[in-house]
Amino acid sequence: MSDVVEQFEREARGGRRGGLDPVRAELDALIAHTVETLRERSGAFWERYETERDPAALAAWFVPRCWREIDYVFMLGEVIRRYGLTFERRHITALSRQLLDEAEHYDDVGRIIERLGGTVPTEPPPSAVTWSRFLWDCLDRHFLGAIAAWNMSETAATGTLEGIVAAGQRYDLPDVVKTYEQIIRDEKFHVGLGRALLDRYIADERDLAEVHRAMTTMAKIVVESHVAIDLVV
Ligand SMILES: [Fe+2]
Ligand SMILES: [Fe+2]
Repeated sequence: MSDVVEQFEREARGGRRGGLDPVRAELDALIAHTVETLRERSGAFWERYETERDPAALAAWFVPRCWREIDYVFMLGEVIRRYGLTFERRHITALSRQLLDEAEHYDDVGRIIERLGGTVPTEPPPSAVTWSRFLWDCLDRHFLGAIAAWNMSETAATGTLEGIVAAGQRYDLPDVVKTYEQIIRDEKFHVGLGRALLDRYIADERDLAEVHRAMTTMAKIVVESHVAIDLVV
């Protein structure tokens, strides 16, 4: 088991009921593979950037990342509004805290884009359209669907975060370093929370099937969408 998965397991352990148990090993293997795939693919982006340090290309790299932050805000709000009262009060509070974090990430990543001369997205850029549509579809289908899909997406994205901080240090981009160090801290909470909620609230085979569908499909989607560069300037 990778360090990443072990860490998430530890954070999810408090008070879990084990709803994920039947698919845990399968999902952990999928997560470990997806995280590593994204780590390699985002590394390839930074190798290209090394040869041609183009601020427009860098701004474009952050555009889909920025969009995902604000789409999480919208989705968290809708999950809380639509399904919040099916969760314990402390879980409504935790989801609300995540919503605020994601709004701050949108603001911070947006500032990076503007400093690089780009435009902060206010609609899904091309590479995020399939990702966004799938998440909203999962949200409509089942009360745990969006949480499952975004948990896979956020977990997979952790494979890119340390590389972004290292690149920020290498290329003297202090705003990138500061923003992504904070995002790394926040994502530990978000990923652990999502995992804990799935473990806690999966109650029957239908719940498990919806969560499994959301996570396995999202694993395929992120491999393309999380390393895309949208030339929206
Ligand atoms: Fe975020
Ligand atoms: Fe997050």
